[in-house]
Amino acid sequence: MSSPMGSPAPPAAGRAWAIVAAAGSGERLGCREPKAFHPVAGVPMLERVLDVVSRVALDGIVVVVPAGWEESARASVGRRFARAVVVAGGASRRESVRLGLGAVAEDAEAVVVHDASRPLVSPDLIERALAALAGASGAVCAVPVVDTLKRVEGDRIAGTVPREWLWRAQTPQAFRAAALREAHARAAAEGIEATDDSALVERCGEPVVVVQGEERNMKITTAADLALAEALLGPREFGGAAGGLA
Ligand code: CTP
Ligand code: MG
Repeated sequence: MSSPMGSPAPPAAGRAWAIVAAAGSGERLGCREPKAFHPVAGVPMLERVLDVVSRVALDGIVVVVPAGWEESARASVGRRFARAVVVAGGASRRESVRLGLGAVAEDAEAVVVHDASRPLVSPDLIERALAALAGASGAVCAVPVVDTLKRVEGDRIAGTVPREWLWRAQTPQAFRAAALREAHARAAAEGIEATDDSALVERCGEPVVVVQGEERNMKITTAADLALAEALLGPREFGGAAGGLA
């Protein structure tokens, strides 16, 4: 039987859905509420991400939040998208995206996955990830490593690692829906965890291309990242209202 992923690429814009992974707790940030509900310059990360995603032509969106936080997310999601679903996530990011995928419409041809912990994403980056699907099963936004890399053992430099092939993966990551569904089904069946969806699609042997990411599209993990994100945002506008609320 030939793989459904072996079929020709769909038109880049054909029936595209987004999954926003927002079900993490934010242990390293150490906030009271789940990280996606924590404000960055006065506006919760999830709100910021939804505002950006709503500026991309999409057929629907699934937002994955921690169990018990569905109602908090539903109002702001429904306000922006005609076809929106909020679902509870799982114990790992991999499981949360798999659960989100279960709520994506059957007729979706492309799915773009984005982490709520990257609220400085741009609509352009999401669009470029989706457009890159014209020639591949997956498209990962990433930026080249610019630092010199050292392998360290104890306090000793054990070697210098060539960096010319090394990139730092971000989200958004866009996939043909069939490829992403297959990759997640296999990973769940085999008990494989990964920190991004591309790794799961790659291990199925599917072609994944890189899309030039944005340095600004940083990931908020720690309090220092949060401070940096707030500095990057500056006094910019958010959704028509003044951002950077004191
Ligand atoms: N995520 C998720 N479900 C999980 C774990 C993570 O949907 N069970 C999401 C997070 O909400 C986040 C993204 O995956 O948008 C990347 O995860 P990370 O930045 O590590 O966030 P947290 O897991 O919340 O943070 P920490 O690891 O510090 O607890
Ligand atoms: Mg985590």
